[in-house]
Amino acid sequence: MATDPTLADWYELLVENHLVAGGPAASIVEELSGKVPLVPHSVGLNLGGEPDPEHVARVCLLAEKIDAPWMSDHLCLTAATVHAHELIPVPYTPAVAEHIARRIGELQSRTGRLFALENVSSYMSYAASMQTEWAFLKRVVEAADCGLLLDVNNLFVSAANHGFDPRAYLDGIPLDRVVQIHLAGHQVLDDHLRDTHDAPVCEEVWALYAETLRRTGPVSTLIEWDEALPELPVLLGEVARARQVREAACP
Ligand SMILES: [Fe+2]
Repeated sequence: MATDPTLADWYELLVENHLVAGGPAASIVEELSGKVPLVPHSVGLNLGGEPDPEHVARVCLLAEKIDAPWMSDHLCLTAATVHAHELIPVPYTPAVAEHIARRIGELQSRTGRLFALENVSSYMSYAASMQTEWAFLKRVVEAADCGLLLDVNNLFVSAANHGFDPRAYLDGIPLDRVVQIHLAGHQVLDDHLRDTHDAPVCEEVWALYAETLRRTGPVSTLIEWDEALPELPVLLGEVARARQVREAACP
């Protein structure tokens, strides 16, 4: 990140890239910390499974180091006997909701910081699920008394893949808990949509973003583009459009 750090209002740190002392990844944190707001976003807390105590300790330490306004990870399972390096959805059952809420509660107690839970893009579901995703998400965040990181692209992708109405999802979750929004591009494949973070935000997702903001009011928004990176002006164009949509939706 050799460019002007004030090009965006704030940045998200993909936590697992910054947990080792020394080297370029640590120097980015040192360079930006205190100059622009940094929000830690994890992909490895494995909320649907068992915690790795050493990993949890490192994530919490980084959140303290950068004085994070909040921290986040996904509504998913990432490891059981092996680390999957994937965000695998969980079965929507009361026992799983209770487990994830307890894990989030432990993180919030330990750090004294708000935790924001993110919805994932999914390509499978479980026969064991007893609720819709949105009812399950509501149950978890209310039990944990935590925030929501609403990924509008993930919502669009999962709605298309599973055949539900994304507006019913918005109706069903506690939107007053949304502290952050993600936007990203996806790929349209023969029989499903795939969340890829390698393309511009599509028109339907911009429209769903505007619909979300009309219900939530202005919310901190991050463009996720981490594969096939374009030239910087293209990225900044996405940031500018997010600002335009926000201003139009929340005058
Ligand atoms: Fe996301």
